[in-house]
Amino acid sequence: MSAQLDVIPNCSGGHEPQNEEFSYWVDENQNACIEGVIPANLTGTFFRNGPGRLKLDKDKFGHWFDGDGMLCAFTFQNGRVHFKNRFVRTPKYVKESQTGRIEYRGFGTQRPGGILANILRPPANPANTNSVYHGGLLLALNEGGKPYSLDPSNLHTYGEYTYDGELTPAMVFSAHGKIDPTSGDYYNFGAGLDFGRSGAKAKINTYRVSAEGKMVSKGAIKLETFPFCHDFVITDRYGIYFINSIVTEGIMDVILGRATIADCISYKKDQPMQVIVVDLATHEEVQRFVTDDGAIIHFGNAWQMGNELIVDGMYADNFDANEGLKDVTSIENFAGGKYRRYFLNLNNGKIRWESVTDTESEFPTFNPLLVGRQNDLTFTACSVDNGHASFYNAIQSTNQAGDQNLVTLEPGYYGSEPLFALASDSNEEEDGYVLELIYNAFSHCTELHILEAADIKNTIACVKLPHHIPHQFHGFFTREILLKP
Ligand SMILES: [Fe+2]
Repeated sequence: MSAQLDVIPNCSGGHEPQNEEFSYWVDENQNACIEGVIPANLTGTFFRNGPGRLKLDKDKFGHWFDGDGMLCAFTFQNGRVHFKNRFVRTPKYVKESQTGRIEYRGFGTQRPGGILANILRPPANPANTNSVYHGGLLLALNEGGKPYSLDPSNLHTYGEYTYDGELTPAMVFSAHGKIDPTSGDYYNFGAGLDFGRSGAKAKINTYRVSAEGKMVSKGAIKLETFPFCHDFVITDRYGIYFINSIVTEGIMDVILGRATIADCISYKKDQPMQVIVVDLATHEEVQRFVTDDGAIIHFGNAWQMGNELIVDGMYADNFDANEGLKDVTSIENFAGGKYRRYFLNLNNGKIRWESVTDTESEFPTFNPLLVGRQNDLTFTACSVDNGHASFYNAIQSTNQAGDQNLVTLEPGYYGSEPLFALASDSNEEEDGYVLELIYNAFSHCTELHILEAADIKNTIACVKLPHHIPHQFHGFFTREILLKP
């Protein structure tokens, strides 16, 4: 890669909508190409999800989180790559595609028409945050609603999925469930409310889905405040929830149509984080810790060592990012968090942390066969000074010994969440690849970089698409080939 122009374009082109839906083998598309060779032991499907459009013909959404979910699927088979993308057919997507206008409220978007147009209307579920393939189901996930089920062979949308009614009308399902590598069980959660004589009480609903895709048990954790809890971690025995210092105030203004949820969220320095440990088998709260104020949006791994639970998290002491996300197309610099490792002592109830790296880090990923067990290597998307606007412009691997391997992109190239893809013949932790979508702002096209997990400085192959994929949030890799072209 090289900076072909004197003027370095920023990342904003990567927020332009991609309204076209493609389906092609890369080697059969004369405008696409593969540099390098796709490894023979990289077989399976790499799903990505994120906002495929942030504006309509006539209107623009009020927050990055309100863009319509567009699933992408890269299928690796016999050294070839197939690309497919398709919007999730939510009611919001379908209706707004017809009218070209904002028809639904969002997390940070109001319907045109003032208070009367918004009163008593809950935010729509754009199904835009993450995806998972588990128990034979492909789900598009957003924490504000239920999962959307899709046909994994062609990305056709079936509709909202409730696990045979186990997700009742008031229950939502987060975008960051975790699959236990031993049992195959899928654990997830969702913010909720209980209504009683003393008013509404906040809670977190907890879910356990068997490897076969059946919801087998549920529970609830009571909270004092409505949580902004986006992600969590599991060990082989516990679920661990960090209740951030981010609070939602003035929820009646949201209900009455005067404000959006994004307007009502703020960071409270005087509110310490609570850490709640829950028994995965019983859904019962085991222990609660209190630590300094903070906001941890995404977590790495967690595991138990003796009497301590160890949790990797990307820490920030503010939620200033929320303001920028309301007009994400104009963001040039996008800071990540600080990679911290927390130690929760189950004997004495004390909590401490240490810094893992000073590099601004977000979107941690690691070998999925080690979820809840001690892993050595963690990969993060980083924001570093490469002489130009940052967004995500580097990838770093960090190991338990503290070694760091940083790959910085050249100015004009903008990264995303890296994802660990297991090799088909994997034996060791590092036997796999790190997959990362990179937006080339010079060509306004997206590239999939395939890096060797054992040494991310080694780019094994680069798949250059003839179009862009808007900056996305999260992905999922399965060694199964699901596509039926
Ligand atoms: Fe997330």
